[in-house]
Amino acid sequence: MPKGEAFLAGIQPNGYNETSEKKTSEKKTSVKNMKTIVKIWKSLKTNQTNPVSTVKTEQTEDLSDGAALINQGGLVAFPTETVYGLGGNALDSEASKKIYAAKGRPSDNPLIVHIAELSDLEGLVKEIPPMALKLADAFWPGPLTMIFEKTDKIPYETTGGLDTVAVRMPAHSAALELIRLSGVPIAAPSANLSGHPSPTTAEHVLRDLSGRIDMIIDGGNCDIGVESTILDLTAEPPMILRPGYITKEMLEEEIGPVSVDPAIMSSTLATGNGIISGSETDPSSKAAENSSSSGDSLREETSLHPKAPGMKYRHYAPKAPLTLVASCSEDTEGRKQAETVLHFAEQALSEGKCVGLMGTEENLALYEEFLQKHEAESGNIFLKVIGSRKDPAGIARGLYGVLRDFDDTQVDCIYGESFETDHLGEAIMNRLLKAAGQHIVPTEN
Ligand code: TXA
Ligand code: MG
Repeated sequence: MPKGEAFLAGIQPNGYNETSEKKTSEKKTSVKNMKTIVKIWKSLKTNQTNPVSTVKTEQTEDLSDGAALINQGGLVAFPTETVYGLGGNALDSEASKKIYAAKGRPSDNPLIVHIAELSDLEGLVKEIPPMALKLADAFWPGPLTMIFEKTDKIPYETTGGLDTVAVRMPAHSAALELIRLSGVPIAAPSANLSGHPSPTTAEHVLRDLSGRIDMIIDGGNCDIGVESTILDLTAEPPMILRPGYITKEMLEEEIGPVSVDPAIMSSTLATGNGIISGSETDPSSKAAENSSSSGDSLREETSLHPKAPGMKYRHYAPKAPLTLVASCSEDTEGRKQAETVLHFAEQALSEGKCVGLMGTEENLALYEEFLQKHEAESGNIFLKVIGSRKDPAGIARGLYGVLRDFDDTQVDCIYGESFETDHLGEAIMNRLLKAAGQHIVPTEN
């Protein structure tokens, strides 16, 4: 069995690798769920008012159509194990420009180059350090992106003007096949409009990019749900620029010490060490202020510049301002957080606002009690259960879907519980804090 399939087996389902022991045993399990069915919404390229039709097929030949589009300089959205990507020929500067235009993304924010074989790396990067080979052996195909010095083969349009290039081999059969069939590396950011949560279903992509791209390959729900871990191999020691499913511990087990971009650390420390941003008395107004800023709230608050250009932008944002309630010690089930969430919700309801609640299964009874108490205002309360604290992988998988669901409601403000920042929790809190514009308030006693 190819190693990538073994790795994918390790992340499906509920494959949160908490210990290296578990990881090893999971790697040995056989693959059951490797996706083989590929449905495609084909483009009606001539009809610009309705350019993406709902013609579906399950023929893998449709991947060839996708590959042909990539070769003609077109854009094809495709599933990966993390989130959907918006792909174009990474060697074609015009294709990269089109990607930025379709997403409405600033052109200084580099794209990740996706490959299907380790040998594809040659020619794209100046040097393949031994560490990269070790990590590729352990985690590719999989949710790890590595940064190398680029060669001239990769245009600056693809790397946002940088001399380095981010490369990843996705663990999804449709993605790998699309890359193989097109015969070129595929540059692909997440297939969302800039500023929206990353897409974890083809429907999310359709909503954001219909009319802007040539094709969407539907591979169902993404297994992981948060974007890949980014590791800069040009730093000494290697530095994590974005936390993801592959944790610092997992990387260190393979290659020894790994550092973390201090700008990222400061955002996650906000929960654990009580560094609280914003007003504590009026969270919704502060969050609204944050939400109107298209800038870099992390940088504003910490004066640290994230090393991955994309990490400086306010991403993953639902339309209504989100306020998180920080975790506090001895509150493992998050009960105090849920109580604080409900306190703010009560206040918002009394002001005639429509309120969104993001809670965990552990506190469902509390939320249900609240809903009963406010039965008369039930049309003004939207509760989304994000999952169980015992299942961080489940929370990661559903996270962006929940944030997008709030956009389908009329909520004026959202209050949510937060999570411990260990293992996958670090990636979850990193995304949630960005969605909240770094706005997190303490629990109330
Ligand atoms: O899981 C993923 O990584 C998904 C799937 C589609 O593969 N892709 C993804 O791409 O999340 P995107 O473009 O949404 O995020 C790429 C991040 C950005 O924050 C960007 O600034 C950073 O990677 N990045 C890319 N190239 C870089 C480089 N050479 N140096 C530093 N950061 C880089
Ligand atoms: Mg993105």
